[in-house]
Amino acid sequence: MRLGIIGTGRIGGMLAAAYAKTRLYDLMIINRTPTKADAIQRQHPAQIHVADAMETLIEFADVLFLCLKSTDTRAWLRQWGHLLNENQLLLSTSSQITLHDLDAGTLSLTARVIPSVTQHAHAGIILYTPGAKIREHTKVALHRLLSRVGEPLAIAENDARIYADMTSCGPAFFATLITQAAAATADKGVPAATAEAILVATLAGLVRLLKENGLTLSGVIQQVAAPGGVTEAGIALLRDETPRLFAELFAATERRHQEIAAPDNA
Ligand SMILES: NC(=O)c1ccc[n+]([C@@H]2O[C@H](COP(=O)([O-])OP(=O)(O)OC[C@H]3O[C@@H](n4cnc5c(N)ncnc54)[C@H](OP(=O)(O)O)[C@@H]3O)[C@@H](O)[C@H]2O)c1
Repeated sequence: MRLGIIGTGRIGGMLAAAYAKTRLYDLMIINRTPTKADAIQRQHPAQIHVADAMETLIEFADVLFLCLKSTDTRAWLRQWGHLLNENQLLLSTSSQITLHDLDAGTLSLTARVIPSVTQHAHAGIILYTPGAKIREHTKVALHRLLSRVGEPLAIAENDARIYADMTSCGPAFFATLITQAAAATADKGVPAATAEAILVATLAGLVRLLKENGLTLSGVIQQVAAPGGVTEAGIALLRDETPRLFAELFAATERRHQEIAAPDNA
């Protein structure tokens, strides 16, 4: 299968590298600023080719990942959407562009895919929502394609914000929480860099317990927090403080999503 990646910024560049590492696909990439695509190609010279023009990539690819900001996605659809045919599959990574708008912009099959930076490590959830024109066998093929770099999860189009908060924003949110916790250790005399390394190793251990040793989150809490002990005191504080924090966090991402989607910003 031949993959095209349009836009090799944060997410397109990450997907190009992730698929190149599988060595299963012929990849062609293109970016508005060509040097960015050239730099990615140099890291995977056997797997990745840089397209000399958008028409070349469109002609080459069976599946096209459109990894552009929403304004650029709309402009791209207006300029190039009509060149795709009904056997091609166009995957947009923008959660601002509706499947209806995607379908209106091209004859090809369409779907929305919301990757996560964790796919760089061939891990984590990759969200997707098939467009209306996709039949069952294409859904299966799409699921298989996404499973090469992560754990695909099909979601309803309108659920994208809250799911993307967990999967796509999640790595940055967890990283921020760890950084904040590490910064707080400075008062206790532990350098932040040491604390970050310790917390990351602890998190990696927790993930292994959950993934490989069959423990549940509540099981871990029970095993660590003796009644009346120090962990329980910390957990009580977290249970008091975090519901408001997370409610506000999800409200903030929703608000920003609406602002970006507003016509003035489109
Ligand atoms: N970042 C994430 O973790 C993440 C996760 C899930 C979904 N998304 C979505 O994925 C999309 C891309 O996000 P991003 O963070 O990767 O943005 P980004 O880093 O700004 O990358 C966008 C890239 O698209 C290129 N570009 C713009 N117009 C183009 C065109 N007509 N032809 C070819 N290349 C073009 C830009 O080129 P220049 O080098 O010239 O600027 C830039 O490299 C957004 O819709 C975002 O919401 C992002």
